[in-house]
Amino acid sequence: MAPVDPHSFTDSTHPPTTHISLTLYLDFSSSTIHASALFTLQNPHSGPFFLDTRSLSIHSIIDPQTKTPLPFSLSVNDPIKGSLLSVTLSNHASFLVTFTTSPSSSALQWLQPPQTFKKAQPFVYTQCQAIHARSVFPCQDTPAVRIRYSARLNIPEELSAVMAAKHVARRSPVDGDALFLPCGDNNSNSKFSWCARGRVVEEFVMEQPVPPYLFAFAVGELDNREVGPRTRVYAEAVPHVLDSAGREFAGSEDMIREGERLFGPYEWERFDLLVLPPSFPYGGMENPRMVFLTPTVIKGDATGAQVVAHELAHSWTGNLITNKTNEHFWLNEGFTTYAERRIVEAVQGEKRATLNIGIGWRGLNEEMERFKDNMEFTKLKTNQEGIDPDDVYSEVPYEKGFQFLWRIERQVGRPAFDEFLKKYIATFKFKSIDTETFIDFLKANIPGIENQIDLVLWTEGTGIPSDAYEPDSSAYKLIISLANESINGRMPREDEVADWHGQEWELYLDNLPKSFEVSQIQALDSRYKLSESKDYEVKVSFLKRAISCGCKAYYSEVEKTLKGVGRMKYLRPLYTALVKGGAKEDDKVFAKRIFSEARESYHPIAQGVVEAIFAKHL
Ligand code: BES
Ligand code: ZN
Repeated sequence: MAPVDPHSFTDSTHPPTTHISLTLYLDFSSSTIHASALFTLQNPHSGPFFLDTRSLSIHSIIDPQTKTPLPFSLSVNDPIKGSLLSVTLSNHASFLVTFTTSPSSSALQWLQPPQTFKKAQPFVYTQCQAIHARSVFPCQDTPAVRIRYSARLNIPEELSAVMAAKHVARRSPVDGDALFLPCGDNNSNSKFSWCARGRVVEEFVMEQPVPPYLFAFAVGELDNREVGPRTRVYAEAVPHVLDSAGREFAGSEDMIREGERLFGPYEWERFDLLVLPPSFPYGGMENPRMVFLTPTVIKGDATGAQVVAHELAHSWTGNLITNKTNEHFWLNEGFTTYAERRIVEAVQGEKRATLNIGIGWRGLNEEMERFKDNMEFTKLKTNQEGIDPDDVYSEVPYEKGFQFLWRIERQVGRPAFDEFLKKYIATFKFKSIDTETFIDFLKANIPGIENQIDLVLWTEGTGIPSDAYEPDSSAYKLIISLANESINGRMPREDEVADWHGQEWELYLDNLPKSFEVSQIQALDSRYKLSESKDYEVKVSFLKRAISCGCKAYYSEVEKTLKGVGRMKYLRPLYTALVKGGAKEDDKVFAKRIFSEARESYHPIAQGVVEAIFAKHL
C-alpha cells in the first residue's frame, strides 16, 4: 500500500476509476446536494478500496447488479485531506454511492439572490482545484487519476446549468432519476414528485479523461452570447453584463488559432467562457470546454484577453498534460504562463507580452521575500507533505517556471524550442506527469542541454537562478526608471503616460521605492485618479501602497474593494498590508471588522486564505 499523492488517500495498489456517473439534486433551500455516484474501475478489485471525501454524509454503498449493500467506513477528518472513505469490494469493478454534501462544502459557493448581479435568483458554482472535488463527490482526488464522467443535474426550472463538459439535454425529470437519490421517502410516487415538481434535469458528458480538479458546474439564471465559431460567453441574464463580456472576449477565436499554430490541435471542441459573480476567488479557472472567469477581467479595453489567453493555454498545458501531483504544479502553471505570453505576443504584440514578463519578474522577486523563512516554496518541485496547497499558492510556479522555459528557449533558439513544445504536447497528451518525466524528455530531445543549463538547480534549487532574466525592452525600462525617479519627487508627466494601460500603471506602482510618502501618494492620485481605476490590478496596487504609508484617506476605498470582490489576488495583498508585522493596531482592527462583515460573501477557499493570513500575523 502506498499513497500516490501527498494530498490524497488514493492507493497505488488500487485500480484507478475510469468513469463516474453522477446524479445530483441541488437543494438551494438547504445549500446541499443529494446525490449518487456510480463508479467504474479499470479492473475488478477485492478488499478495501480508498476514496477521498470532505464533509460528505455517506448514506449507502451498494453493488449495482445485486443491489446489496457493501460495507464501508469513513475515517476521522484530516485537516488537509479530509476523510478517507474505505469500501470493501469483492471482485467488484463497479459500485454506487449515495451521499449528501454539506452547506460548508469547500468547493461550492451558494449565493443568495442579493449576491448576484441580477439579484432575483440564487446561484451556485464549484471551484475544485486544488483538492476540493472531494467535497462535491467521493473520488480518487489526485490529478494522477484521469476520469470520464456523465452528470445529471436536477435543478429548479427557472434556472439553467452549465458544466465543463458537453451538454446533452435539458429535459423533464423521469421516474428513474429519483431512484438512487438519498431523499424524499421510499414511496416511489412521493419521491418522484419531490424530484419532478418545478424541476428540470440538465445532462452532460465529459468524454475525455480529466483530473478531478477540472470537474465544474454552475447553476443560476444564465444566458449567453455567441462571440466566435466555437465560443459563447455565458453570464447571468443581465444585458449589460453579457454585452460587455461579449465585447471583451470578441478576440477569443484569434487566440485559439494562435494556440493551435503554436501547440497543436485544440482537443476540446468548444471554448466557452462563463463570467461568474464578483465573489469568484480566482481570475480564471481553466475548466475544460468552459473557462470560469471573474467579472473583474471585464474592463472595457480588452485587457481581459490576458486572463483568457492564460486559461486557453491550459487547454494544452494542464488539461492535456497534467501535473501528476500538486508538487509538480509548475508543470501546469509555468508552461501555461509561457504559452499565455506567446499567445499574447502573437495577438497583441511583443510590447504587451514584455510588460507582462516584467510584472511577473517583479512578482517573483516579491515572493522570494514572502518565503524567505520557508525557502522550500521558492523551488519549482516542492515537497508538500502535510501542506495545504491553498496555503502555499504563489507566483513561484508561474514565474520561475516561465523563467526556466524562457531560459531554455534562449539556449536553443525559438524555432527549435517551438518544435520541442509541440512534440512534448503530442507525446504526453491526456497523461499526468512529474518533473522527472519532463526533464528526461528534455534531455532526450535536446541532447547536451544539461551541460548548458543547470537543470537540477532550476527544478530543485531555491531562489532565483542567476541566469534568469529581467526583460530589457526600452518600454519596460522607461517605466522602471520613472518609478525610481519618484525618489526625487518627480512624477510622470501627462505626455509620458498618455498611452499607458493598466499594465504600465501596475508596473510603475509596484516598482515605486519603499520610501514613497503620503503626500506623494495623494499627489499621484489627484493627478491620475488611480484609486478610482476600473482596473482592479491598478486600484489594488495603489491601495496596497496607500495602506503601507498609512494614508487613511483611502481606507473607505479599501473597505469597498474588500467587500465588493472575492478574487484572492486582491484580498491577499490588501489584508496582508493591513495586518503584517509592523502594521498599526487600528489597521488590524479595521481588517478584522471588514472580514467579519465580508466573510459570508467570500468563497469558502477565500475565507480560508484570509483566515490563514490572520493566523500568521495576528
Ligand atoms: N489554475 C489556475 C487557478 C488555480 C490555481 C485555482 C491553483 C486553484 C488552485 C488558473 O489557471 C490561474 O492561474 N489563474 C490566474 C490567472 C492569471 C495568471 C492570468 C488567476 O486566477 O489569477
Ligand atoms: Zn493557470
